[in-house]
Amino acid sequence: MYKNNFLTKNNTIKQAFGKINGEFGKILCVVDSKRSLIGVLTTGDLRRGILAGFNLNDKIEKVYSNDFSFVYLHELKKKKFISSKFNTKKLTDSIYQIPIVNKKKQVISIVSLEKLIDSLGDNSKKISLKKINYPKILVVGGAGYIGANLCLKLLKKKYQVVAVDKLLYDKSVIKKYLNKYKKFKFIRGDICDLNVQIDVIKNVDAVVFLAEIVGDPACNARPEDALKTNYLSISSMATLCSHLNITKFIYTSSCSVYGVNKKNDLLNEKSDLNPLSHYARMKIMSEKTLLNFRTNNFKPTIFRLGTVFGPSLRNRFDLVVNTMAKNAYYNKEIIVNGGEQWRPNIHVDDVVDGIITAIQTSSKKIGSKIFNLSSDISNYQIKGLASETKKIFPKANVKVVKSLIDGRNYRASSELFYKATGFKAVKSVLQANKDFKKMFLKDKKFNPNNKIFNNFEIINDTKKK
Ligand SMILES: NC(=O)c1ccc[n+]([C@@H]2O[C@H](COP(=O)([O-])OP(=O)(O)OC[C@H]3O[C@@H](n4cnc5c(N)ncnc54)[C@H](O)[C@@H]3O)[C@@H](O)[C@H]2O)c1
Repeated sequence: MYKNNFLTKNNTIKQAFGKINGEFGKILCVVDSKRSLIGVLTTGDLRRGILAGFNLNDKIEKVYSNDFSFVYLHELKKKKFISSKFNTKKLTDSIYQIPIVNKKKQVISIVSLEKLIDSLGDNSKKISLKKINYPKILVVGGAGYIGANLCLKLLKKKYQVVAVDKLLYDKSVIKKYLNKYKKFKFIRGDICDLNVQIDVIKNVDAVVFLAEIVGDPACNARPEDALKTNYLSISSMATLCSHLNITKFIYTSSCSVYGVNKKNDLLNEKSDLNPLSHYARMKIMSEKTLLNFRTNNFKPTIFRLGTVFGPSLRNRFDLVVNTMAKNAYYNKEIIVNGGEQWRPNIHVDDVVDGIITAIQTSSKKIGSKIFNLSSDISNYQIKGLASETKKIFPKANVKVVKSLIDGRNYRASSELFYKATGFKAVKSVLQANKDFKKMFLKDKKFNPNNKIFNNFEIINDTKKK
């Protein structure tokens, strides 16, 4: 039954990665010729081995741990532990399985720590498993509009989170929950720096890459910085994660890659790409690079996001729905640039839930694939978004301008991701407008025109310095 959990000392690191197959928290039992347990191996052990210079064809004897936790079945039955060993190893890895052995130390079964503790009832206090380490997720760009909410939700779901961010915009975001969660580590750093990449990648189970110079205007203001962050840093992170066999890597591309679609078809992942900007072209370059690096043990999942909307811990008022809500409330005006163009949209909370769904879904299903991630109920023409805003802010006047028209025009379908995982975005544009209204009404001192809420303005300022 546990065929895929067993190895001998002579197996290779590559074979061990194959048996773990990207499953979080899975342990491999290293046994001798009598099938007695002599060691335990985790992905963390394997990756530390690779970082220490071993290669995939090296034997696992160089990397497995012989100081491991196990439980004797006879002691478990009596709920009395004398020779069983718990927590002997410093738990840096997300181990949440434990081998149950007979008196000859042959493995009878492998159980999750949670199940083991549950089965012990009150006796669980007798074992010193103080901490079960849930998977450790690295969120690159963890202080951003999507990243900040993602980190918080992951922490609430008990994941360990390492966030790295250069803090280009709102520097207070992370402070809001830094001290509240023990399993949260924040590193202020530039992901373009290879030292930072090596530093943050240690002992993580999965990577979500969100750090970029985001949006066409910001990318146009600093095209070389955008090239470094949005393409070169992703390329080297892909090289590194592929080298370390980090199976799960989630990257947020954008539906901007579709650019303009005159026929107004509902676009899917096979539709033609027609990027109109430096930002969108780099998204395509990064998608290709990630897929070029795919292996059996590095299976990136690429999301092409619709335009994101809704309040977040780090707000952005340079996104169409959010900008309309802000102008409607503070200026009593909803400015529509053009109006006829179609745009797929998605609530930031749905993006977070989509990413978490991807973290929790086997890479066999969604690895090495591209998915649109948008809301099928939120494909709107820009003028339609204005109508939704006006419903909540009825005193605002709609003003159509023809001077600043963004040429993007596309509708997108997220059917493919729905079919793979059952996930559907559910939060509407109307709901986001209601939430913004509540937020504006609640905080009378809130200044939505602070530059920290506008990527272009901050990036453009750094250009002048
Ligand atoms: N928001 C949208 O509408 C939208 C739409 C499509 C795709 N996306 C994609 O989603 C991802 C996240 O977008 P967002 O809206 O959260 O943007 P954001 O600008 O709010 O977040 C990006 C974060 O990355 C950080 N960052 C930038 N360069 C960095 C570097 N070199 N090192 C470390 N940190 C760095 C910034 O400080 C910021 O906190 C991006 O890849 C973006 O292209 C967003």
